[in-house]
Amino acid sequence: MARAASILRAGGLVAFPTETVYGLGANALDTDAVRKIFTAKERPGWDPLIVHVSDLAMARTLARALPPVFETLAARFWPGPLTMVVEKAACVPEEVTARRPTVALRMPRHPVAQALLAAAQLPIAAPSANRFGRPSPTCAEHVVADLGDRVDLILDAGPTELGVESTVLDLTQSPPVILRPGGVTREELGGLRVVGGVADEVAAKGLAGPGMTLKHYAPRAAVEIFEDEAALQARATELRGRCVGVLVPTAKNLFAELRRLDAEGVDVILCVLPAAEGIGLAVRDRLQRAAGGRRA
Ligand code: TXA
Ligand code: MG
Repeated sequence: MARAASILRAGGLVAFPTETVYGLGANALDTDAVRKIFTAKERPGWDPLIVHVSDLAMARTLARALPPVFETLAARFWPGPLTMVVEKAACVPEEVTARRPTVALRMPRHPVAQALLAAAQLPIAAPSANRFGRPSPTCAEHVVADLGDRVDLILDAGPTELGVESTVLDLTQSPPVILRPGGVTREELGGLRVVGGVADEVAAKGLAGPGMTLKHYAPRAAVEIFEDEAALQARATELRGRCVGVLVPTAKNLFAELRRLDAEGVDVILCVLPAAEGIGLAVRDRLQRAAGGRRA
């Protein structure tokens, strides 16, 4: 942990586990270090990064001002898989926020992520530790496969607990808007009276947020999604003779299974979408992106 912290302090890259997926971390206040994240991931510069914090005090140093709802949500969901978008402080480099006036903040609950933040005493900018466009990494082997020697150190704590990324909630709009469904569910957020309900970005504006491009989380095989099993069966019959994988998705196995089916060399991955409730909303979202927005 001491070595990981000193790598971060020296401007290097450390991959680390969170309760959602593995992150590729750098000192969020070091512009050159942050640039290395984009290079290692081959990530376009317009896609802003989440900044991970050790506590509320650190969050305050990164925001211009925190709205009252921020403290309420932090008290309820931090540490945990909720990322909140607020107006940024001047100290946050433009590279982190892709020149936006806002910054995304999250306090992870994984003990290794917390130990790293405590040891480094720095806010850590960290996207998921996958090559851009690949499924997010839920174990250290996925990080090795995608980033290999592009990262200075990988902290391996085994498979992650949740398997899908954090919920990204925009607090600069009222009521707050879910930009990305994730580990904290819409039901949990909407149930809080103080939030005054939440809206989904696509429902609210009819467009996707930064980094929310369709055709994301894509394996090499074609992914086809179905609302029910009968439709999948019919398609499987049509595909007779081709190498087909059938994915039975949960939040925890989703990304690992996409990678595994790819490694098996299947041509097509067929998958029935889970119901649009609870964590199922996040699973549907990632599968729809993996399918490139196509639906059978
Ligand atoms: O669970 C997670 O959130 C993981 C772990 C490592 O914490 N991180 C993660 O980061 O998924 P990433 O970069 O793969 O996805 C973060 C997304 C971006 O694609 C972007 O859409 C959104 O968060 N985001 C970041 N900053 C934003 C901002 N200022 N305004 C709006 N959206 C923002
Ligand atoms: Mg990502």
